[in-house]
Amino acid sequence: MRPLSFSQDLLGWYDRHARVLPWRLPPARSKAGARPDAYSVWLSEIMLQQTQVATVRDYYRNFLEKWPTVEALAAAPTDDVMKAWAGLGYYSRARNLKKCAETVVRDHHGKFPRTAAELKALPGIGDYTSAAIAAIAFGEPVAVVDGNIERIIARRHRIETPLPAAKSEIRDIVQSVLPRERPGDFAQAMMDLGASLCSPRNPACGLCPVMAGCAARKAGDMERFPVKPPKAGKPSRKGAAFVVRNREGGIFLVRRPASGLLGGMAGIPTTGWTARQDGATGKGALPFSGDWQRAGTARHTFTHFHLELEIWLTESDRMPVPDGWWSAVHDLAGEALPTVMKKAISAALPDAFRQRR
Ligand code: ADE
Repeated sequence: MRPLSFSQDLLGWYDRHARVLPWRLPPARSKAGARPDAYSVWLSEIMLQQTQVATVRDYYRNFLEKWPTVEALAAAPTDDVMKAWAGLGYYSRARNLKKCAETVVRDHHGKFPRTAAELKALPGIGDYTSAAIAAIAFGEPVAVVDGNIERIIARRHRIETPLPAAKSEIRDIVQSVLPRERPGDFAQAMMDLGASLCSPRNPACGLCPVMAGCAARKAGDMERFPVKPPKAGKPSRKGAAFVVRNREGGIFLVRRPASGLLGGMAGIPTTGWTARQDGATGKGALPFSGDWQRAGTARHTFTHFHLELEIWLTESDRMPVPDGWWSAVHDLAGEALPTVMKKAISAALPDAFRQRR
């Protein structure tokens, strides 16, 4: 069998394997030139923006039952719409849904505009949704590109540019291969392929209708695509921590505030470093004047940042802050001290956590 083009191979597969979805026309009907109603396409695409197909099904049916037309939805009390949306999440979608219905009724005689460019001017409709509605409901040959489709194209062309930088290149490729006939079915065929065979892990290439032209399949490195951007490096923060040892050899500890980093854990007093900003350092940061010595540096890496702490040590009975307690060195192991605090104390008192017999 001679391979046809990418789009013809894909549409042939869609004709046989299209998912049956309540907002979709079966391919036999769309092949014959029928188009789904724009209101139902719009409603389903808004719901599908951040929600999975399985969840959307019931909400979609319920909405259509309650408000079968854009006029009915435009006339509905906003509160009823919000209630019907409850559980779908991302509630700005519901507010925009209502606003969009009102705009279509007021400014467009209840008819959705037929091009992606005009649709994009409506509330809640962005690049992806405008293209999907224009292609599926009106047959406009525009590129519809979601995450699944990016994956298919990135693999097919082994695009080394990471996302999101590769988006415009991917869009151009989709635009160049989409068929002028059945652009809506083509978009939905891509969605189905991405949701089934061309999965992020373990793609089922052996069953793929467009395997022949896939560069990643040929190289055997499908899972490398789409290439993700390198993770942003962790920032490095500075701060200071204070070891105060009293005459009995007790170390002064505080309980950290319940919320925030190390919330509710014990520690020595520190300056106010966070993942976002440095804490104070140097002599000006000392909690009281006295005979302080620099006692080294403690370094620790948290999930989101590196921390470098100046450690200061003094022998004093003075409490550096009002709330806290003295913990005998041999009791330190039993305190709720996070690793960074153990490192800080050990910088000043190297034997503090050594095993004792
Ligand atoms: N996800 C977003 N739009 C979709 C559609 N029309 N069919 C299947 N999945 C989708």
